[in-house]
Amino acid sequence: MNILIFGAGYVGTVTGACLAHCGNIITFIEPNETKVDMLNRGESPILEPRLEEYIQQGLSNNRLRATTSIDLEIEKVDLAMIAVATPSTFNGSLQIEHVHNVINTLKEATRNRSRQLPVVIRSTIHPNALKSIKNACSDSNLSLVINPEFLRESTAVSDFFNAPFCVAGGEDPQSVDLVLSLYKEICQKRYVLELDAACMLKYACNAFHALKIAFANEVGSLCEALNIDSVKLMQVFCEDNQLNCSKAYLKPGFSFGGSCLPKDLRALLSLGRELEEQLPLLSAILPSNQHRFQRAVAEILHEDHQKLAIIGMSFKKNNDDLRESPFVEMIEYLIGKGIQVKIYDPDVKPDRLLGSNLKNFTYRYGHLARYIHSDLKDVLQGCDGIIFCKDFEKNQILDYIQQHSVPFYDLQNHLPFEMKQALKLCAA
Ligand SMILES: NC(=O)c1ccc[n+]([C@@H]2O[C@H](COP(=O)([O-])OP(=O)(O)OC[C@H]3O[C@@H](n4cnc5c(N)ncnc54)[C@H](O)[C@@H]3O)[C@@H](O)[C@H]2O)c1
Repeated sequence: MNILIFGAGYVGTVTGACLAHCGNIITFIEPNETKVDMLNRGESPILEPRLEEYIQQGLSNNRLRATTSIDLEIEKVDLAMIAVATPSTFNGSLQIEHVHNVINTLKEATRNRSRQLPVVIRSTIHPNALKSIKNACSDSNLSLVINPEFLRESTAVSDFFNAPFCVAGGEDPQSVDLVLSLYKEICQKRYVLELDAACMLKYACNAFHALKIAFANEVGSLCEALNIDSVKLMQVFCEDNQLNCSKAYLKPGFSFGGSCLPKDLRALLSLGRELEEQLPLLSAILPSNQHRFQRAVAEILHEDHQKLAIIGMSFKKNNDDLRESPFVEMIEYLIGKGIQVKIYDPDVKPDRLLGSNLKNFTYRYGHLARYIHSDLKDVLQGCDGIIFCKDFEKNQILDYIQQHSVPFYDLQNHLPFEMKQALKLCAA
């Protein structure tokens, strides 16, 4: 493809040189004349391993050049990429004026173009910034595509050719396909996302990387205070690909609970206090969890329900442990607000509990026994909303929702989305 790349900085230069290596014809549009001259001499404007080699290769086979402004027929361009800086303002908000400047240049340049020009945002922008860029592209010959990069400085060239995935989002499927086709030979996992989601994914990735570093550092601080080799400890920690370094626990849903996570976090924070170690990240986890709980409950209460069917009570499937189950806390909260609840949870059978479990149930949760029903039909009968805490009889429940048009809250999955889906389903 014939591709324009606006901005020959860290991201633009790597993207352009690598795409030239893949056989595309790249023209960098870069206002900084020194960078333009360097690129045209085969020098890299930034220090990045192997980049200069790829720039020189691109120059020698006439697939790469740089200029300060568009100097070729726009009709012949297949794609324009924007890789200009999007820095922070003093208060942390995102500055997107450079992106807007390029959009304005492209709008003007494509005024008389016979077909739409796919414009790919490679710069990092968040969904709110995207709104103004979308507005700027409306009524133009530009078709907006978000194609974030996940490169690391210092290994950017090798990251480009070993990407774990490539994503693109846009309103025009043809433009999105065109962008993803750039990576056909180098990346097998190519995903189409909504525009907003494509923007957000980059932030989720970087926030997660930052979170991991801060987490390891706080564990490191505790270990140091206890004279434990934290590097060795984290090496072993990382050997667990089932829970620690895996997909586990990375699905947005309801707050966590159970007899271990909250208790052990509290003990760890208490240990930190004894050792006089500040643990700002670990200290934020329980408040964040509580916020998630409150947010979901507030959303349910907002609908003014009178009778709710609650599917699931213990904190996970195939388990009858009610200790610190967030669902129990939610049920108590709803009862406290005067809502009539009926609970269905085949995992929890008070008459089958023994020993300390029975004692615990009678003492802590005995007041809930009268709300528990063994027949799902009884629980659903006459309810004006269903809260799905655990995965029981989903099909039977969905049938009921369709027949009776009651709202459905799926706490297993991200609440607002599922709720909207359910409401849509009801409306249909
Ligand atoms: N993955 C990473 O490691 C990584 C690293 C840095 C930045 N980023 C992200 O990539 C994006 C680009 O950042 P960067 O560090 O590569 O930027 P940079 O500052 O290195 O380069 C941006 C270039 O764009 C040029 N430019 C400015 N206005 C222009 C215009 N109107 N037309 C053409 N060129 C113009 C500038 O002269 C500059 O050379 C940002 O959104 C940033 O958040 C990612």
